[in-house]
Amino acid sequence: METATSTGAVVWLTGMSGAGKSTIAQALVKRLQMLAIRSTVLDGDVLRTGLNSDLGFSETDRTENLRRVAHVADLFCREGFIAITATISPEPEHRDNARRIVGDTRFVEVFIDTPFDICEQRDPKGLYKRARRGEIARFTGIGSAYHAPVRPDLVLRTLESSIDECAEQLIEHLTQEHLLQRG
Ligand code: ADX
Repeated sequence: METATSTGAVVWLTGMSGAGKSTIAQALVKRLQMLAIRSTVLDGDVLRTGLNSDLGFSETDRTENLRRVAHVADLFCREGFIAITATISPEPEHRDNARRIVGDTRFVEVFIDTPFDICEQRDPKGLYKRARRGEIARFTGIGSAYHAPVRPDLVLRTLESSIDECAEQLIEHLTQEHLLQRG
């Protein structure tokens, strides 16, 4: 079995709802497990049912939500885990703040680049339909903006690459950046 080592990193996935963040995060965790690397997924949807259940989607609540996610990711990273976060994190300030919390050398900002129309067509949770009907205030892409990263560390284009290929690109990037040592 191929193994690898890591002293910890935060892989910060950003993109719109339905872009594929959670699916790619799960695929990466599986790959890392196969390499015997300790990793965890911090999913916005999941954290919002517990740790962040007091927060909504106003600007200040999103900022607080993402500040907490970054601190939890940082704790895992310090223990040598690869923490993969899956949050919309719609503003550059959210991502920059997370990078400051974690530290530049261990932080990888990954843009899950799926066109808005495709996210809306996929609508895995039926939320775009509800937002169009006016049932969800400030839904990202409809009632609230998503500002894509201008210079992310990595871009994954889900229309061009399969989930497995995206996970492989992440592994390659982590290896290149010496956040993962193979063999
Ligand atoms: S973030 O903007 O603060 O980064 P986060 O990733 O934690 O958001 O949560 C996004 C998830 O919450 C979406 O995938 C969706 O399931 C749900 N959600 C509920 N209301 C909204 C909303 N107004 N805008 C975006 N997502 C929402």
